[in-house]
Amino acid sequence: MTPSLVIDNIGLLITNDPEIGERRDVSIVFEHERVAAVLPAGSTAGAADSRIDAGGRCLIPGFVDSHTHLVFAGDRSNEFAARMAGAPYAAGGIRVTTAATRATSTTELVALAQARRDAAFACGITHIEIKSGYGLDVETEARLCAAAAELTDDVTFLGAHVVPSEFADDPDAYVDLVCGPMLDACAPRARWIDVFCETGAFDYAQSRRVLLAGRAAGLGLRVHGNQLGHGPGVQLAVELDAASVDHCTYLSDADVDALASSQTVATLLPATDFSTRQPYPDARRLLDAGVAVALATNCNPGSSYTSAMAFCIALAVRDMQMTVSEALSAATLGGARALRRSDVGHLGIGARADAVLLDAQSPTHLVYRPGMPLTAKTLSRGALVFSAE
Ligand code: NIG
Repeated sequence: MTPSLVIDNIGLLITNDPEIGERRDVSIVFEHERVAAVLPAGSTAGAADSRIDAGGRCLIPGFVDSHTHLVFAGDRSNEFAARMAGAPYAAGGIRVTTAATRATSTTELVALAQARRDAAFACGITHIEIKSGYGLDVETEARLCAAAAELTDDVTFLGAHVVPSEFADDPDAYVDLVCGPMLDACAPRARWIDVFCETGAFDYAQSRRVLLAGRAAGLGLRVHGNQLGHGPGVQLAVELDAASVDHCTYLSDADVDALASSQTVATLLPATDFSTRQPYPDARRLLDAGVAVALATNCNPGSSYTSAMAFCIALAVRDMQMTVSEALSAATLGGARALRRSDVGHLGIGARADAVLLDAQSPTHLVYRPGMPLTAKTLSRGALVFSAE
């Protein structure tokens, strides 16, 4: 039988569940990797295989990181340093990581990604989406999807990240490859297809072809759009009912209106804008228009080498005019919605037993004490996967 776990003496429990809501002085019971009950503190003595004393601190749903590029090799800290000295961010840096990744064995790539996954646990991330996109040839993209599939069931095929150098003279031939043999090799491991619809990557027509080919292969749709300037990414995502359009830094009124009347989530990646010295997306404008918003880390070696979701929440509150409650919801429920999942992002009865014990009395501390290590414990599927104490 799967062991049961009680976390007792929780000072503040945030569930994101409409019926349970926020509770003070409670315990939570996990059984069979799921949330089984929320009870008054101290009322569960002797009823579990193991127990954790929360010490009056705050328990929140685990963070759902719906946008990462965790499988890669190589280092681009020099590019980051150059940017801090005034150079602009450009999509072309992806090719630098591609060269290093192609030269690395699958075993080593899995080990590198596993270490980053463990770092994400330490940051309170209990569910993660992982993209390919640093292979850009059939064999390496298939290896990246296989590596990602060892770490998550939300694998995204991103062969259309940029056009690799060997296709520089014929980008449409590369799109043919992505929509044909590369998709055939990657789709069995993937749940999603994504495309970087941006100047310097893929235009509207190319992006549409990629997404439609992915849909025909049974994959759900995601889009990188409106990151470096105004462009067609958001409109394309809405047109094709993509689950999410990610970045959304440059939006027209028509883009916001289109998102507001769609099921497409706007996933904001503020650590990227921090690391690339871009403006932050206007989260307030999106929320006030009724757009569903997610926050994600975009952990990758070029534009955002971090899994610190608490940092993203702090930026969202400090610089994007989100409330703490909106930002926490966007980093949990919002991420789940961006991945079209109902089993994660909340602690309702029957939800996956994914939670973070904060070394703090409330989520406000994530913003109030920026950069502090406030993840006391991370639980994934009812098991302890990180403990700072
Ligand atoms: O989401 N925008 C495209 N892809 C990544 C950056 C990848 C890189 O620079 O290596 C992103 O920011």
